[in-house]
Amino acid sequence: MPSDRATGIHDLSLATTEFVLPHAALAGHNGTEIGKYHVGIGQRSMSVPAADEDIVTMGAAAAAPIIARHGTDRIRTVVFATESSIDQAKSAGVYVHSLLGLPSATRVVELKQACYGGTAALQFAIGLVLRDPRQQVLVIASDISKYDLDSPGESTQGAAAVAMLVAADPALVRVEEPSGLFTADVMDFWRPNYRDAALVDGEESITAYLQAVENTWTDYAKQGGRPLDEFAAFCYHQPFTKMAYKAHRHLLNTCGQDTDGARIQQAVGHTTAYNKVIGNSYTASAYLGLAALLDQADDMTDRPIGFLSYGSGSVAEFFAGTAVPGYREHLRTAAHHEAIDRRGTLDYATYRELHEASFPTDGGHHPTPPQTTGPFRLAALRSHKRIYERR
Ligand code: HMG
Repeated sequence: MPSDRATGIHDLSLATTEFVLPHAALAGHNGTEIGKYHVGIGQRSMSVPAADEDIVTMGAAAAAPIIARHGTDRIRTVVFATESSIDQAKSAGVYVHSLLGLPSATRVVELKQACYGGTAALQFAIGLVLRDPRQQVLVIASDISKYDLDSPGESTQGAAAVAMLVAADPALVRVEEPSGLFTADVMDFWRPNYRDAALVDGEESITAYLQAVENTWTDYAKQGGRPLDEFAAFCYHQPFTKMAYKAHRHLLNTCGQDTDGARIQQAVGHTTAYNKVIGNSYTASAYLGLAALLDQADDMTDRPIGFLSYGSGSVAEFFAGTAVPGYREHLRTAAHHEAIDRRGTLDYATYRELHEASFPTDGGHHPTPPQTTGPFRLAALRSHKRIYERR
């Protein structure tokens, strides 16, 4: 039987970018039949960062409302998960720590394993809270998904951050043991240090993801996890929303169960609402799925939710959580809708300009154009240092 430890997600807040590119604009440029984007991969639009936004500004914007609600007294650890890191040495979390005015008596670290990093951060945070339930951990998962222009991956770009406060007696979701785990050395998706756009073998990546679904579930069952029928919904990592449907069909097949379309829609439908218009947010993706589920579904109190986190390369984990009584009073549904709805729509040419832009590497002073209207901005790169501003 799964053990029922009262530790998990106490608060959850999301942020995304200043701009959005509708898939219709991309299709207008490359001549793709729009049905391939809207139906084939299940995407309507992708978040695009302004020139003065990055994983730090998004991460800080996601976390600021959590600090405003709960204060900083109990937060002694910040774990920043990302695979679009801005520095090889310094954690992006240290910039966020400074922008949010967190106390100096805090440990801050950055974690990486492709899209799985957010779940690693959550699980490590739970371990810290179990060791000392007075402490809280601020987990930030923030990513910009970027592929080469005119490559098959381009339509699956996106950007967002999710901040989660992990605590004992959580107000939103109790995270359960056990977890089902799976690691395999595959080259389905990677980004060498000298590239800012990822490289991917699309077909291989989908196969590797589905194998991870099967293997994490097998291990989860072996560890004494819940039977499949107990789950009310499933939050899958969503590189594009159709992947959640493929993954759930594969899980049902693995368990020898009926793969009826309505049943799959019931299990994953609500979780796709934010990812469909934001695109791949890598480490944040499964937790955008959770936000969309809690914000939209009828009462989920005490109903088990399955989480499948997949990070190319690859590492994956399946685990369960339950929405706790009263969770709806703590949701940030209006703020989440506002973060998505406030984005300004780009035309294709402006999107392309933003995609191609990069800082010179000469160590000079390079101010960024003030484009974002968000609470934090990347003001410049000066002497190779990133300079951030809080409004
Ligand atoms: P592609 O070659 O552009 O598209 O690659 P396709 O030809 O495979 O078509 C996609 C779907 O659209 C197909 O449906 C077509 O039939 C359908 P499916 O067979 O899959 O069910 N289609 C249409 N449907 C309706 N009307 C039409 C139409 N035309 C075609 N007119 C691919 C797609 C996703 C591979 C590409 O975009 C890509 O390489 N993306 C990046 C990699 C990726 O997202 N992989 C997902 C699994 S790996 C993962 O999740 C990890 C990741 O997040 C990174 C990390 O962990 O760090 C990526």
